Amino acid sequence: MRARFLWIPMLIVALVALPACGGGDGGTLKIAILAPLSGDVATFGESTRDGAMMAIDEWNADGGVLGKQIETVVEDSQCNAEAAVSAANKVIDQDGVKFIIGEVCSSASIPVSEVAMAKGVLQMSPTSTNPSVTVDEFGKTKGLIFRACFIDPFQGTVAAKFALDNLGVKTAAVLLDQGNDYVRGLAEYFRDAFEAGGGQVVVWETYTGEDQDFSAILTKVKDAAPDILYLPDYYSTVNLIAAQAREKGVTAVMMGGDGWDSPDLDTSVVEGGYHTNHYSADDPRPEVQDFVSKYQEKYGAVPDALATLAYDATNILLLAMEEAGSTDPAAVAKALEDMSFDVVSGNITYDELHNPIKSAVILHIQDGKAVYMDTIAP
Ligand code: PHE
Repeated sequence: MRARFLWIPMLIVALVALPACGGGDGGTLKIAILAPLSGDVATFGESTRDGAMMAIDEWNADGGVLGKQIETVVEDSQCNAEAAVSAANKVIDQDGVKFIIGEVCSSASIPVSEVAMAKGVLQMSPTSTNPSVTVDEFGKTKGLIFRACFIDPFQGTVAAKFALDNLGVKTAAVLLDQGNDYVRGLAEYFRDAFEAGGGQVVVWETYTGEDQDFSAILTKVKDAAPDILYLPDYYSTVNLIAAQAREKGVTAVMMGGDGWDSPDLDTSVVEGGYHTNHYSADDPRPEVQDFVSKYQEKYGAVPDALATLAYDATNILLLAMEEAGSTDPAAVAKALEDMSFDVVSGNITYDELHNPIKSAVILHIQDGKAVYMDTIAP
């Protein structure tokens, strides 16, 4: 008699649980996107979100991943360590996410990687280029952390070699935000490669993320009259420094890194300059041109490197899940390590530090546009 009554609560539990795992269709899988959607580098976040969402929409239209529809949780992590850590904790603890796409900025991705490792969550940064994102202070690879981009020792070397060999320059001034992992790292890698190749760094000056007035350090640049002025910061800061440099009469050719990639880069003040990047929309490869037209149709804009790498990062992650046949982060990490991916920004195979070996492109700011110049293989 008693056993018959037990059926009733069990039936209720089963009926409540069924819709939560999506009935017969395999349920849903939550993925978080952490990106700066407000503040100084908001275009980075918008492009990242749009690129990742485009990939997810395509997978969902195609039946999802492992039969599950993908649900996204998007958080504004502001390209900043504190905001990114609380966003990571929120999506993991409250939303129950086991996979994070993001952050964009290395200074945010590095602390997020620590949260992800401690909580057994897989992180895939589309665009954070500092080595410390995937490797800890003892040189050990963080098992659940991956990226879809090359790293800054390569990016800095490409810029230095291009300046020395293609532009034939001999001297450089380097200005850097010492408190920003990406900026400081890229400045140092550039300097090391520039000097190793016979160039001379004649000005090396630091500023902080709060500075607005760069006249004191720009006076030093003006007096040293270097051939190039290397500005390895994000577009918003580059806009400020470059405008003040021009006002002061600095005539050096300006150069920078992927941080220049934004529709809001003030091309009037960096006209004639060069920057390294992950990809160019002018690349004639059919994978690139197909993606550019699909993206343009959906969003009405040409995808920048952030959109493209977020699209690639999302596809890589989902392909690895399919291959692993599992949504267990450790199993997906193992699949990522073993696979090779042909995506829009090139081929991605992971080395033992979870870094893809990929080419960089050089873009030239000409008549207000970033024009494709060259592709440099590792
Ligand atoms: N590489 C930058 C970082 O690590 C982020 C970035 C990538 C910015 C691509 C613009 C374009 O902080």
